[in-house]
Amino acid sequence: MGIYAISGSASGMGAATRSRLEAAGNRVIGIDRRDAEVCADLGTAEGRAEAVDAAVDAAGGVLDGAVSAAGLGPPTAGALIARVNYFGSVALLEGLRPALAASGAAQVVQFGSNSSTITPNLPDELVAAYLEGREEDAVAIVGEADPAFAPAVAYAGAKLAVTRWCRRAAVTEPWVGEGVRLNVIAPGPVDTPLLRQGQADEVYGPLMEALPVPVTETPDADALAQWVEFLLSPVARFACGSVFYVDGGTDALIRSDDWPRSFIV
Ligand code: NAI
Repeated sequence: MGIYAISGSASGMGAATRSRLEAAGNRVIGIDRRDAEVCADLGTAEGRAEAVDAAVDAAGGVLDGAVSAAGLGPPTAGALIARVNYFGSVALLEGLRPALAASGAAQVVQFGSNSSTITPNLPDELVAAYLEGREEDAVAIVGEADPAFAPAVAYAGAKLAVTRWCRRAAVTEPWVGEGVRLNVIAPGPVDTPLLRQGQADEVYGPLMEALPVPVTETPDADALAQWVEFLLSPVARFACGSVFYVDGGTDALIRSDDWPRSFIV
């Protein structure tokens, strides 16, 4: 049985993944702002460093896997979403990487979102600021968006950038070359406190209600935790830098012909 670090372990899909991994006999080191082995704020550089140090220490320097599920959604302020959802996720994964490599066959799942591909008009400069690690620039660009929609811009931009970061990193020597598989799960609406907070908001509630989801049943957190458990299992070791949409068909509906696509050489 293995040792896994899970951020966002106190709620929703992180908590559901924790329950599944523990029920299967694994040890979980939870990382969250509250109710976790490692209580730290992934929205700050100090908190991220504390989280990495404490989690690696608790694991004895070797991790069999990690799940990056900590996140905030609209209507939380866009700046905070940018700091936690992109910079917190990337700093955590980069910080845990040596301990993951030490196991020789680790597997990692990052939570993306279908918002990354179904949100129109995301500013390229925001995605670039995220990917280039320019945190204050990203926060400033989010601040220039229409205030009502800044949280959604920050959120979808962060999910697009973190997905791209994972795809870039996954195939490099420090990751695949060291036996670490890195993949992304991209859910649509899943019944968790994050979703419910958005649904209860006067701006985001109606927008979320209007989102077309071909599969009309909204899954619970455990349904997605089963996907994560699968992506952490040995049978998933040929997946590398893959993005798994589990979104009831919204991405297929809105972007049907955009991918897969060929390219010009
Ligand atoms: P949730 O709100 O139930 O759980 C998120 C957890 O992250 C909470 O325990 C929270 O305390 C923690 N967290 C937030 N800010 C933090 C910080 N600064 N430092 C440390 N921990 C922090 O949310 P849910 O829905 O389970 O989300 C999990 C992941 O899935 C997130 O990355 C979210 O963006 C993503 N996602 C969720 C969807 C949904 O419909 N619920 C859809 C697509 C993606």
